[in-house]
Amino acid sequence: TTLATIVVAMDGPSGSGKSSTSRGVADRLGLRYLDTGAMFRAMTWFMLEQGVDLTDPAAIAEQAGKPDIVSGTDPLAPTITVDGTDVAEAIRGEAVTGAVSPVSAVPEVRARLLQLQRDIIGAGGIVVEGRDIGSVVAPDAPVKVYMTADPAARAARRALEEGGSDAAAVEASLLARDKIDSSRATAPLTMPDGAHHIDTTPYSLDEVIGQVVALVEAAVR
Ligand code: DC
Repeated sequence: TTLATIVVAMDGPSGSGKSSTSRGVADRLGLRYLDTGAMFRAMTWFMLEQGVDLTDPAAIAEQAGKPDIVSGTDPLAPTITVDGTDVAEAIRGEAVTGAVSPVSAVPEVRARLLQLQRDIIGAGGIVVEGRDIGSVVAPDAPVKVYMTADPAARAARRALEEGGSDAAAVEASLLARDKIDSSRATAPLTMPDGAHHIDTTPYSLDEVIGQVVALVEAAVR
């Protein structure tokens, strides 16, 4: 494996430090970066925009092939558009965050995004973050990392990112999403075979980036 072809699979629940770590690793190694969670969020934004009944998986499935979702892969400037509309900010809002887990559980949504994700991954040279990267999207990835952190630490990070939301409410919301994401039938959040488990609770961002960079450097040697 070389840096030009490597795939680094980064999985874990939200708030584990996955996004900042993935971007930092990609930046330090000159790799591309793909945030698959942003793609599920963009799909969810589209469903809300279309007024699809989100309690009806068949209605979601029917629309899943429609949006043109385009993800940029620059770790320093991630971009995402739906049918040409920049949704980077909208997909971080409460409406999308509250609706993304049920949309992500629909197999037709996952199949569509899997195809887009594999197209972007192509020959490699990329850090890919999500919930099912090492298990489903890129099971042959030479480096797989499964990141976790104490729920209170995750909620504190997310609350800070969301500009001072109430940490207890954020913790309840992310634990609820974890539960749906881990218990769904298709591609649940799970620690993939062969993954390196990093509990980020005691470490700084720089330390975790260093740990993952070391794993990648060992793999390309
Ligand atoms: O990483 P995030 O919080 O932006 O992800 C949002 C949601 O997308 C998450 O609750 C589950 C879903 N998701 C998924 O099902 N599979 C992925 N590979 C990435 C995200």
